Amino acid sequence: MNPGGTLFPGAATPRDETPTPGETAAGRALAAEPAHRPVAAPADGEDRATEGALRPKDLDGFIGQVRVREQLDLVLRAARQRSATADHVLLSGAPGLGKTTLAMIIAAEMGAPLRITSGPAIQHPGDLAAVLASLTGGEVLFLDEIHRMSRPAEEMLYLAMEDFRVDIVVGTGLEATAMALELPPFTLVGATVRAGLLLPPLRDRFGFTAHMEFYDPAELERVIRRSARLLEVEVEPAGAAEIAGRSRGTPRIANRLLRRVRDYAQVTADGVVTREIASAALGVYEVDGRGLDRLDQAVLHALLKLFGGGPVGLATLAVAVGEERETVEEVAEPFLVREGLLARTPRGRVATPAAWAHLGLVPPPGPSRPSWTAPPGHRNGDSGQDGPP
Ligand SMILES: Nc1ncnc2c1ncn2[C@@H]1O[C@H](COP(=O)(O)OP(=O)(O)OP(=O)(O)O)[C@@H](O)[C@H]1O
Ligand SMILES: [Mg+2]
Repeated sequence: MNPGGTLFPGAATPRDETPTPGETAAGRALAAEPAHRPVAAPADGEDRATEGALRPKDLDGFIGQVRVREQLDLVLRAARQRSATADHVLLSGAPGLGKTTLAMIIAAEMGAPLRITSGPAIQHPGDLAAVLASLTGGEVLFLDEIHRMSRPAEEMLYLAMEDFRVDIVVGTGLEATAMALELPPFTLVGATVRAGLLLPPLRDRFGFTAHMEFYDPAELERVIRRSARLLEVEVEPAGAAEIAGRSRGTPRIANRLLRRVRDYAQVTADGVVTREIASAALGVYEVDGRGLDRLDQAVLHALLKLFGGGPVGLATLAVAVGEERETVEEVAEPFLVREGLLARTPRGRVATPAAWAHLGLVPPPGPSRPSWTAPPGHRNGDSGQDGPP
């Protein structure tokens, strides 16, 4: 329940003057990711067209995220018992992990209407005031990409979240007067790719923050089997496991790969997804056994074959694979690092033993040395420093 801000006694955190975190590394990475990659995490047009039908409708149907589900279940059940609106909820996690799905589930579980808007759509406080003023009591307001809201609108949101009130300015110049507008109690559900992008005053006003993790292969297998049922595709357990292993911990990617495999099974076989069919289909799309696509594989190949496993500077690596530096750094590397295949060191990019094993290559013989130390006489060709200058 959110009565008049009493749940947030310490919320008036002093303002800091950090710029609005719109132009962040995470934001740029999302923008740089080509949507046609089969393993891209952001939604493409086909995803948007099909996702509605595949979203679980209630908490019980939501697969994985056990901790988040359990905590959220308590928050929502307690609110229902008190016949109150639920606390404001912040959902943070990488694209495609289920933030929008969970926002819809929150509204459904509360039996409340859902209003959807997003940070980029709210550039002026007036945009937000218009949305807030039209809310009905108990409504769930889903604010996607909340970190991309404009700063003045964000300040208006503080008061709305805490006191269910907005101050709107009527008139201009000397005629201008502030008018308080009372709002009915509502539940704000904010979503962001990284909670760290939010300023503390906003972050602190959420009663509950859910950090969504990447899914393990067994959970993705369940996602795939569930989606296959809804899409009326026959998938053998081994076929589901094969797709799950290549889905980079992300349900959206699992669903997309399932659709590609379904097409292949339909065109080249009897439509049944076996392990062999899944493997052959994903081979056509150049998604390897671990979910690396052509770009990821090119980066690893260059690092191992041209530079002996590194260290090699980012700029050199980018030239070697014929890509922009940003594409290598923001699109390919995060997953390679997450998978423990590549390390970013102050001296440059270094392949891990797992990278050699993954490509079936043997590290070059030589004196045993820590993998982040360059061999004598090795020159990088550039500084190898991480990140932008
Ligand atoms: N826990 C889950 N169980 C089953 N399916 C899921 C789950 N999480 C996500 N999905 C599926 O993955 C798709 C993408 O999820 P969703 O749109 O909620 O992700 P998101 O976190 O909002 O992504 P973005 O950051 O791009 O907005 C949905 O269509 C849904 O079917
Ligand atoms: Mg979403």
